[in-house]
Parts: sequence; structure tokens; C-alpha cells
Amino acid sequence: MRTQREALLLIPSILLLLLPSSILSAIPPFSCDTSNPSTKDYPFCKATLPIEQRVDDLISRLSLVEKISQLGDRAPPIPRLGLPGYKWWSEALHGVSDAGRGIHYNGSISAGTSFPQVILTAASFNPLLWYRIGEAIGTEARALYNAGQAEGLTFWAPNINIFRDPRWGRGQETPGEDPLMASKYAISYVRGVQGDSYQGDGGAGLKASACCKHFTAYDIDRWNGVLRYSFNAKVSVQDLEDTYQPPFKSCVEEGRATGIMCSYNQVNGVPTCADSNLLTKTARGLWGFYGYITSDCDAVSVIYTNQKYTRTPEDAVAITLKAGMDVNCGEYVQKYAYSAIKQGKLSENDINRALRNLFAVRMRLGLFNGSPKHVLYGDITSIQVCSSAHQYLALEAARDGIVLLKNLEGFLPLSKSKVSSLGVIGPNANRASMLLGNYYGPPCKSNTPLQVLQNYVKNTRFVAGCDTVICNSGHIDEAVKLASSVDYVILFMGLDQTVEREDFDREDLALPGMQQSLITNVARVAKRPVILVLLCGGPVDVSFVKDDEKIGSVLWGGYPGEAGGLAIAEVLFGEHNPGGRLPLTWYPQDFIRVPMTDMRMRADPASGYPGRTYRFYNGKPVFEFGHGLSYSTFSYKFKSIAQSHLLNKSATAFQSSNKSGIISYDLSMMSTAECEMLKLSAMVRVENHGPMDGKHSVLLFLRRPSLVSGRARKQLVAFESLSLKAGERAHVEFVLKPCEHFVHTEEDGRKVMDDGSHFLVVGEEKFEVSIIA
Ligand SMILES: *[C@@H]1O[C@H](CO)[C@@H](O)[C@H](O)[C@H]1NC(C)=O
Ligand SMILES: *[C@@H]1O[C@H](CO)[C@@H](O)[C@H](O)[C@H]1NC(C)=O
Ligand SMILES: *[C@@H]1O[C@H](CO)[C@@H](O)[C@H](O)[C@H]1NC(C)=O
Repeated sequence: MRTQREALLLIPSILLLLLPSSILSAIPPFSCDTSNPSTKDYPFCKATLPIEQRVDDLISRLSLVEKISQLGDRAPPIPRLGLPGYKWWSEALHGVSDAGRGIHYNGSISAGTSFPQVILTAASFNPLLWYRIGEAIGTEARALYNAGQAEGLTFWAPNINIFRDPRWGRGQETPGEDPLMASKYAISYVRGVQGDSYQGDGGAGLKASACCKHFTAYDIDRWNGVLRYSFNAKVSVQDLEDTYQPPFKSCVEEGRATGIMCSYNQVNGVPTCADSNLLTKTARGLWGFYGYITSDCDAVSVIYTNQKYTRTPEDAVAITLKAGMDVNCGEYVQKYAYSAIKQGKLSENDINRALRNLFAVRMRLGLFNGSPKHVLYGDITSIQVCSSAHQYLALEAARDGIVLLKNLEGFLPLSKSKVSSLGVIGPNANRASMLLGNYYGPPCKSNTPLQVLQNYVKNTRFVAGCDTVICNSGHIDEAVKLASSVDYVILFMGLDQTVEREDFDREDLALPGMQQSLITNVARVAKRPVILVLLCGGPVDVSFVKDDEKIGSVLWGGYPGEAGGLAIAEVLFGEHNPGGRLPLTWYPQDFIRVPMTDMRMRADPASGYPGRTYRFYNGKPVFEFGHGLSYSTFSYKFKSIAQSHLLNKSATAFQSSNKSGIISYDLSMMSTAECEMLKLSAMVRVENHGPMDGKHSVLLFLRRPSLVSGRARKQLVAFESLSLKAGERAHVEFVLKPCEHFVHTEEDGRKVMDDGSHFLVVGEEKFEVSIIA
């Protein structure tokens, strides 16, 4: 029940919201309007002054009530200073979305480019592609702002939590299960969105703001009665150090993200939004974070309401602001900060600290420099939204992500001239919206796989077979009848957002309902082996397809975005050679005996706990991390391994390379600084033996001398995507830092180097690096 005092305190902020609309409409959607003589001369409007000085000037002009009003995701206008309202919450997971509050597709811009859902984009193993997508998103976001359709430029993406458990409903939003990949994804995407160069050189100013979420160890939504709002993730120091934190560290240190979102869950008993060790000491202190920290939506209120972590709402507000959170998605802080101050739990200085971070980001975005037309990026217009270049990029991303899981004796690609009739079957064949996954905006245009295939083969007929993806009812008979009467059959099966989504994890890894029986029944009667296209984010146990000769080829298409229908058809008909590789392990159904709540990465053979991800899982996966076939065959050869770029000559004394090609390092006499300077260059020759041109991603793994104390079975240390013509050879150079890439994290979090033979592995090829630690 709300006390009378609290109710009274609400009045000032309500008043602000109820101002006559004539006053509100007089405020343009940007601060420091040069045509407004009463506000344009404030020091906070002077773009030539340092941001800190401008921020302090602005804050010094605000009353306490005005200050508190700014601490929610909907920050109201402050008309007397010419400040418009600001919406902190916008989304841009794989294209600018209107799922948050800041973006409106209701003006001259009515759609934006919808790239594939992140899990598919990840499968390209191509950081430059991730960067280009980020860049396109930043541009479209600016265009929306310049067109008056964005009330904010702070986007709550990327989602870089590790895809730890295959049942996670939001795993689809992430770049997969590997910390190095998630780190590279974060860096590339953030640099693109924010306007930095691919190499990380600062651009002229922030184009849009990206946000690393959900900080940290958040990867349960709703499973078996466990809710994300109250889940306490029990995480070891070791797992935190080498699995959960690396993507966030990279996102901040190298991506230079200007936003972080703290999550709903607790980590080892402390709500992340209330953890000053995490927000202030680690992110701001150790990693040098410069930006704002938002809570997930209502994550402050859950600390009191769901978690009973504090005695009162005021304590929840005080503890989060003191820990380093700056803005709350929701109204809880706006509602209780004043009483928290009156109760002596919070000081005005705590609020000023948060406001400094908030206004600094708005200023860095150029939102206090007058009309958008006159600021940096003011020349980006609506023509750049859904441009042909962006739409082509969406197609390229879908093509490059699609993974060929199985291909019986070159069954694919199909040849148009040889397919006289086509049967398209399945609940995912003809639904444009399912291609987009979640957190999408209205796409520029979108064709379903069925619509595209009808253009490839005139005589194409369609039967859904199942009424929905859940597939409890359907018309298997009709599908069987169609299958027996056509030349070729393509099945579009898998999952959609009714089965895996935010706030909803799966209980099961099998295909839902009667899907498997539909596939096998259709395959049994078809004239030729059938082609199965799986559209889903998380993995499904499709072991049954592996040895079934009636199932000729299997493709995984994730949620491929607006151009996904076309990309799939191009792969099926050999206009594009698939080169995607799985960014996650596909586990067998028996994995579900593992409680999703068990955060341990490492296996525990004594208790039968199998471990998680390709680094630690000790069972046999259905398809392993990195699996992905091509219409061509590729081979590798370690060409040379050389030590390069030694900054300190005297350190060469610690390294030798003998005749058998093994490289040895004696690190025992080396200082830490010298060790960090050490670089190793591994040259890999890659050859495309044909018959088709194609992209190919080279994955370089490390195997350590021993597996004790939770050392990973293998660990991705570098990857690179290249384009090779049929018959072409190329060299890829991987530059590693042994003292960074070879270290292992101990149970107590310490990083150690092992003595002995380390192997760099690419495909079946190995190279030995011998270390004396
Ligand atoms: C678009 O939607 C926003 C939010 O609902 C609203 O404030 C704005 O007036 C709308 N614009 C137009 C042109 O309808
Ligand atoms: C190079 O290594 C030597 C020996 O450890 C050390 O004394 C010297 O300071 C190092 N030089 C640089 C530039 O780091
Ligand atoms: C090369 O170095 C490795 C590792 O130090 C050693 O095991 C091997 O015997 C050496 N080979 C020769 C020919 O010296």
C-alpha cells in the first residue's frame, strides 16, 4: 500500500508530465535551440566547453525534484531550460527496433533493415560483417532521429551473455557459447553502432550509443518455476573470469561501449544492479567504463519485491544508485528516491553522480548542440534507411550465416533445370514474421521461403503439415500425399517465438509435437531424399537425421531476417556456397537432465555433471561447435610459425625454434612485461579444392598439455573468414600472444601458464608450441 507521504511526493513529477501541451510542443526535440534566446546561451549549451563542465553547469541548475525526474527511462522535459524529454530505452538487436520506447516508425520512415537474428549472424565467424551491420544500424538510428522519429539514441544491444544452456529462450539474441566470439562480436557491433572505425579509432563523435547487456551471468528466463527476476546465479570465480566476464570486459575496453545494463538476477547472492564491486570497481575502475549504467526493466523494484533483498523500496533505490547504477528502466527510482533522501539513505550527491553519467552521454550524442541539422551526422537522411546497400547487407549476412549440417554425397545444391516440381512442407515455410526472431522492427520487405521458391520453380506446391510450430495438430496425410507426387521435397521445420523466447525457456530439446514424425513420414514416401531446413535459434536434437538416407540434406537457418527467404533459396540452388559454422554446441535430448540453474561450466564426472559448451561438455554432441559443411572441400596446412614483433630484443634469448619446427619458449626467466610483449605468428595455408567459390572461416583452437583443474578440452583462440575461388589458395596469419592466449584460469581466478606441449589446431592440422613456464 502506498503511504500518503509517498503519494504526495509523486505530485511534482506528475505536474511535469501534465504541462499544457502548448508549452511542451514549444520545446523542440533537442536541447540548446539556437533560435531560443532564453536558453541558447547557457554554458551547458556551449559545444566548445569540455563535457564535464557542461554537465556540471546543467546539473547545478536543476532542483532536486527535477533531478529525480531524470532517473527513469522516460526522462520528462524540463521546459524552463529548453530540455526535451528523453527516452533511454530503445532496441537495436539486429536492426533498429521499435520494441523499446524511443523509436517510432510512424513518420516518413516506416520500416528499417531487419538483419538476421544475432545467433545466425554469429555463424559467419566474420567480425567485419558484424561491424558493418552495427554501422548500418547506427546510420538508420541517426536517420530516424534526424527525421524526428527517435526520442533517444541509446540502444540496449548487444546481448552478449554466453549461450550457456541450449534451452535458454534468449540464446537466439546472442553470438553463441564461446567467450572469444562473444567478445569479438561485442567489439565489432559496438564500434559500428557508435561510429568508431573497425580498428577502433574513435570517430568524430557518438553516432548512437550501444549497451553491453545483461551484466552479468544472466542466462535464465523462466525454467521449471525459476524466474529471472529472482534467480541467484551461483558462479565460481573461475567461470566468472574465463566465461561470463570476458565479453563484457571486451565490450567496454575495446568496444568502448557507452552503456551497460545490469541484470535482474543475483550473482552469488548479490543483485547485479546493487553490486558496487561489479558496476563501480570492475566496470568503471578496472575496465575504464565511460558511459551510463541502466537497470534492466524494473530490475530495481525486483530487488525489493521479488528478491526481498532490501527491507524497503527506498533501500533498493539507495543501494543501486550507490553501487553505480545511473538510470532505472521503470519508474521505481523516480518514485522512491525522494523519500530515500528524506530517510537519509541516499544523498543528493549520489544522484548528481548518476546524472553526470546520464547527461554526458546525451551530450556526447550531440543532443545538446541545437538542431540535428547542424550537428555531426546531421546529414544522414531517410534515404539511408532501407537503402539497397543495407538490404543487400541483410541478404549477405543471412547467406553467410546459414549452416549446411548434412549433405549426402553432394545431394545439394539443386539445379533449377532439373527440378520439375517442388513440394514445400512445414509450419515455417510461409510466415514472414517468424524469420525475424525477436526485438525486430518493421522490415523493409520480407519474402517467405515459399514465396521465393515459387519464383525458382513454377510448379511449387505447399502444405503446412502442422498448424503451428508446436505441431499438436496438423495434416500429415496431406503432406505425405504432396511429397509422393512431386520431384523434390523441402521441409521447413524448427521453432519460433511461441517455443523459445524472452521470459520462456524450453523444457526439451526435441522438435516440438509431431514435427519429427511429419519429417520421417514425408521422407519415407518422397521420390528422392528430402531436404530439411531448420529455422530456430537454440539447438534441437535431430540425431534421427544423421543416418537416415531418406533425409538428403539439412540446413540450419536460425532466424534469418528480412532477406532470409531469398538467402535460403540461393543456398539450396547453389547460387551461394554455404560457409556458416555453428556458434554453439547442439546437445542431445538427454542433456535436459542437467538443471538449467546449474551455472557450472566445468564437468564434474563424479556426480555425472557433463559440463557445458564445446570447451567442457564431455558427452557426444549432435553437432559440434564449429560444424558446417560447404559445397567445396577445403584443406589446411600450417605454413610457418614464426615469432614476430618482439619489442624487446633481449627476450629473443628465451625463444628457440629447432629443426622439427617446434617452437619453444622458456618463460621462466621472463618478466611479466616481457611475457606480455611476446607475439607468435601462425601462418595457415587454406585451399579451396572446389568445385565452387566460397567463403570459409578458419577456426584456430588451442589444446593444452593437460586437462586437470578445469582446463578446457580445447579453446578457440582466433578465427578469420576468407573468400576463396575454386582452386584458390590463400594464407591467413594469426598473431597470438602466448602469455594471453595460452593462459589458463585457476579455480581461485589466477591466470597461469602450463609447462609442456601446447598444440595449435586447425581442422586436423596441429602445430606444437613447447613452453617452459
Ligand atoms: C508517433 O508516435 C509517437 C509515440 O506514440 C507520438 O508521440 C508521435 O506523435 C507520433 N507521430 C506521428 C507523426 O504520428
Ligand atoms: C628489456 O628487457 C630487459 C631485461 O629484462 C630489461 O632490463 C629492459 O628494461 C627491457 N626493455 C624494455 C624496453 O622493456
Ligand atoms: C625440439 O624441441 C622439442 C621441445 O623442446 C624437443 O622435444 C625436441 O626433442 C627437439 N628436437 C630436436 C631435433 O632438437
